[in-house]
Amino acid sequence: MSSSIIPALLFFSIIITSLADESPIGADYRYSNCSQTFQCGNIANIGYPFWGQNRPEYCGHPKFLLNCSGQTPEINILSQQFRVMGINNMTYTLNLTRSDYWGTYCPNDYENTTMDYDFFNYTQNTQNIFLYYDCQPVYISPPITSQSIEFICDNTTNGNSITGYYVTRNLTSVLNLSAICATNVIVPVYQGNAQYLESNLSTSNLLGAIDGGFGLKWNASNSECENCVWSGGQCGFNKSTNGFICFCENGAHPSTCHPLITARVKTFDDDRLSASSCYLFFILARMNSGSGWAEPNKRMPSQVESNLGLMGLNPARPRGLGSGYRTFSIILIAIAINK
Ligand SMILES: *[C@@H]1O[C@H](CO)[C@@H](O)[C@H](O)[C@H]1NC(C)=O
Ligand SMILES: *[C@@H]1O[C@H](CO)[C@@H](O)[C@H](O)[C@H]1NC(C)=O
Ligand SMILES: *[C@@H]1O[C@H](CO)[C@@H](O)[C@H](O)[C@H]1NC(C)=O
Ligand SMILES: *[C@@H]1O[C@H](CO)[C@@H](O)[C@H](O)[C@H]1NC(C)=O
Ligand SMILES: *[C@@H]1O[C@H](CO)[C@@H](O)[C@H](O)[C@H]1NC(C)=O
Ligand SMILES: *[C@@H]1O[C@H](CO)[C@@H](O)[C@H](O)[C@H]1NC(C)=O
Ligand SMILES: *[C@@H]1O[C@H](CO)[C@@H](O)[C@H](O)[C@H]1NC(C)=O
Ligand SMILES: *[C@@H]1O[C@H](CO)[C@@H](O)[C@H](O)[C@H]1NC(C)=O
Ligand SMILES: *[C@@H]1O[C@H](CO)[C@@H](O)[C@H](O)[C@H]1NC(C)=O
Ligand SMILES: *[C@@H]1O[C@H](CO)[C@@H](O)[C@H](O)[C@H]1NC(C)=O
Ligand SMILES: *[C@@H]1O[C@H](CO)[C@@H](O)[C@H](O)[C@H]1NC(C)=O
Ligand SMILES: *[C@@H]1O[C@H](CO)[C@@H](O)[C@H](O)[C@H]1NC(C)=O
Repeated sequence: MSSSIIPALLFFSIIITSLADESPIGADYRYSNCSQTFQCGNIANIGYPFWGQNRPEYCGHPKFLLNCSGQTPEINILSQQFRVMGINNMTYTLNLTRSDYWGTYCPNDYENTTMDYDFFNYTQNTQNIFLYYDCQPVYISPPITSQSIEFICDNTTNGNSITGYYVTRNLTSVLNLSAICATNVIVPVYQGNAQYLESNLSTSNLLGAIDGGFGLKWNASNSECENCVWSGGQCGFNKSTNGFICFCENGAHPSTCHPLITARVKTFDDDRLSASSCYLFFILARMNSGSGWAEPNKRMPSQVESNLGLMGLNPARPRGLGSGYRTFSIILIAIAINK
């Protein structure tokens, strides 16, 4: 490597660093808007794939609109309303319960829980309980007694009461409740709550199990979003392609803010240095071939001066990829000095 290349490398490393630390002023408005998480009811810091309130639709997945008008967020899945009591964006799981069963085992209409398996599935620790309505009172022999699994629903419209039975597992082979009840409804609950109910059959524990919710795992282009975020982007959705989109400071991209980052994510586990190395080879290759800069750096010339000027005034460098780019800069400088 000739000595004349050293100032060039230093120059480029400064540019890369300053680009990485660039202020969000002038960043794509969708990138800026989608960087904001939102508060919905009593849950704060909600991000992709959810949207609603002041978080625009393109920042989330169409199926993940949250209704924030109440104290607890609500989500609509296959025309059924669910109260969202917890969102875990590390495990992609929701803790939710059916809105029509909130605080009651006597809903106005008898509807089974339906699930959109294209985007959701129950977690391993979720199981069904079975609620039977409009039953003829019967004698059920111990250890399970008719009394222990019985509940009463009052119909406020006509003033009548109906008898119901609940079971935590399918007892049809020993006790065919379908034969004595007009209808039944399947409600998912956490396994632990179902077991507790089983160990102590009571309507208050039944209510506790239902209100305790159940676990639901979501899939809204999860891995695509991970790659996008890793590359410094914000996840979103393009309604016209009906597909994932990655909003970057310099605009929208189909998957990540830089194609090479995808290569890294597929090849390595979680090592920023590797990506930095990718950039190293990428830039050296570009320099050797004498061609121009790749897309992300197209706007560079107009910004070089102001960024260089800002460098000294901007020591904080708060954002994610900055350190990765700085590592790269250090590698570049180290190579330049070594040669
Ligand atoms: C994920 O959850 C954490 C903790 O609630 C929150 O700080 C963060 O903003 C969330 N991120 C996204 C992208 O939703
Ligand atoms: C998105 O960002 C633009 C520009 O910052 C702003 O004018 C607009 O109100 C934002 N949209 C939403 C829905 O927050
Ligand atoms: C939002 O939730 C409220 C109750 O919290 C409900 O009255 C309203 O109908 C819901 N809106 C939609 C669009 O589902
Ligand atoms: C309550 O009674 C009304 C009027 O008879 C009936 O239409 C409705 O289906 C009943 N509700 C339930 C939950 O059984
Ligand atoms: C709920 O599903 C069960 C099992 O598939 C079925 O037997 C029952 O009739 C369904 N109940 C309603 C109200 O549709
Ligand atoms: C949902 O998860 C269960 C395991 O919890 C699995 O057996 C089932 O195949 C999954 N269903 C879909 C549609 O992914
Ligand atoms: C319960 O078991 C019976 C057979 O014992 C079966 O016919 C029925 O479909 C099962 N019901 C549910 C909801 O799994
Ligand atoms: C339970 O009762 C229903 C209604 O009488 C009947 O259709 C069904 O075959 C019975 N199931 C079993 C397992 O006996
Ligand atoms: C069973 O549950 C009821 C209501 O939750 C409670 O009052 C009672 O002490 C429990 N009994 C046992 C043996 O745990
Ligand atoms: C689910 O939410 C309910 C109600 O807030 C809470 O009591 C329960 O501990 C939560 N369960 C899990 C597994 O997060
Ligand atoms: C998630 O959904 C995508 C399609 O949108 C599918 O290709 C992928 O296999 C799904 N992943 C899981 C774990 O279900
Ligand atoms: C969404 O997809 C359409 C069709 O491919 C494309 O024209 C449009 O530019 C995309 N939107 C964004 C924000 O990239």
